[in-house]
Amino acid sequence: MLEKEYWEVLHQKQAYLKQKIAQDPWRLVYHLMPETGWMNDPNGLCQFNGTIHFYHQYVPQEAAGGLAPHWGHKTSTNFVSFQEEPLFLSPNHAYDRDGVYSGSAFVEGNQIHFFYTGNVKHPGDHDYTYSGREQNTVHVVSDDGFTVIKQEVVIPHDAYPAGFTDHIRDPKVFKRGDVYYMILGARTVDNQGKILIYESDNLSEWRYRGIFFGVDDDFGYMWECPDYFQIDGQDVLLFSPQGILNQRDAFQNRYHSGYILGTVDWETLRFKHATPFRELDHGFDFYAPQTFSDEQERRILWGWMGLGDTMPEYSNPTVARGWQHAATLPRELKVRDQKLVQQPITELQRLRGVHQQRHIQSSVGEITYQTATTAYEMAITLDKSESKWQIALLEDTLLQYDGTTLTMTHGPSGYGRKHRRLKIDHLKHLHMYVDTSAIEVFLNHGAACITSRVYPTNRKPTVAMTGVNQALIDYWPLINE
Ligand code: FRU
Repeated sequence: MLEKEYWEVLHQKQAYLKQKIAQDPWRLVYHLMPETGWMNDPNGLCQFNGTIHFYHQYVPQEAAGGLAPHWGHKTSTNFVSFQEEPLFLSPNHAYDRDGVYSGSAFVEGNQIHFFYTGNVKHPGDHDYTYSGREQNTVHVVSDDGFTVIKQEVVIPHDAYPAGFTDHIRDPKVFKRGDVYYMILGARTVDNQGKILIYESDNLSEWRYRGIFFGVDDDFGYMWECPDYFQIDGQDVLLFSPQGILNQRDAFQNRYHSGYILGTVDWETLRFKHATPFRELDHGFDFYAPQTFSDEQERRILWGWMGLGDTMPEYSNPTVARGWQHAATLPRELKVRDQKLVQQPITELQRLRGVHQQRHIQSSVGEITYQTATTAYEMAITLDKSESKWQIALLEDTLLQYDGTTLTMTHGPSGYGRKHRRLKIDHLKHLHMYVDTSAIEVFLNHGAACITSRVYPTNRKPTVAMTGVNQALIDYWPLINE
């Protein structure tokens, strides 16, 4: 049980961080971010009686993270204005004392069932991979999303199957027919990522059914945050593998997140893949996404707009200002041509100020666009003959296309982030969401995305384009009241 002193220190530290944050012009205008301190993965996403619940990994008292995370909580009725709620879960028990780690929500009837990983590190000479760690699967029942009416360990660490390290975590629960299923990310003793599957009739007693998905080739040592769902009858498996080697135009980050399309054999409970693993985002700051189905049955994804363990490659200057990291925009998922496409959800249009449109007919040289604010949305529809162009925006960010590859380059405002590349043919549409210290670009109507944090000091809201001779430009300032 956390002592009174823990909470006193937490509140004192939070009050101190709030003062720093109040003066920070890098606070985001329309992306979700921690009120104070550190945020990582989105957790427990659901909509219940109209209210959208966004929970997240949260260390409110320390911007650098590293302490046992809680579940922070924000709610909304429209995906645009969010309210900060009290902490939902805290590392309060023997089975989660070193962190209420990631997990999911499952809505049934008039209750929400949450499942998370209770992380425990035993003192001693341990590496916390092969020994010394417990990752218990915990079930929480709530009838409103704010209060806990039941909390129980449903799979204690020592009940996991043999052959795995101490890393088994991030439960995601779903139902098919009368049976509940839970998938978990895992690392084997010979360092291969796998996804385990359990089944249950009552959400409390779980039977191990084997490996839902794994590959024989080398594809990372650990798979975090698995998610399974269907879109239009198509089975989709999402996960975040760690340990994949970097390539020039793909897998450029330290850790990655992506998906596979395929089919589930419901007899054997095995996922058979039909496509290769494809990354969901090609920028610097995207990891541990989670999806849920909202009350309109749209499949919505939120990602962590950040990444762990990146030091010393790049750093985040907001740590000195009392906070770190954020969430991506909510993105609606669809399947198009055997690929997932991600689009900013339509509710974000509520942020739009006065629309301006410019038709570029036959320009030579540079076209400059003065935007009215530092938070804006811009959609550029290029003529199909445009194959080489560049767009300079924010302080020193450059998007360059050479006909086959898009490169995003950051100057000093990237704080160590430099280049990210992705192969994309026939790039004709760029939909950019620029915030005070973030950029999310949706390419070819969501066929690919590139998301990064940047920290400009010079707030010159100019967009300068070269090589864009014929295009339609739609621009909206974004205002969050
Ligand atoms: C992913 C992750 C999860 C874990 C959580 C802890 O970023 O490492 O696997 O549950 O973060 O904060």
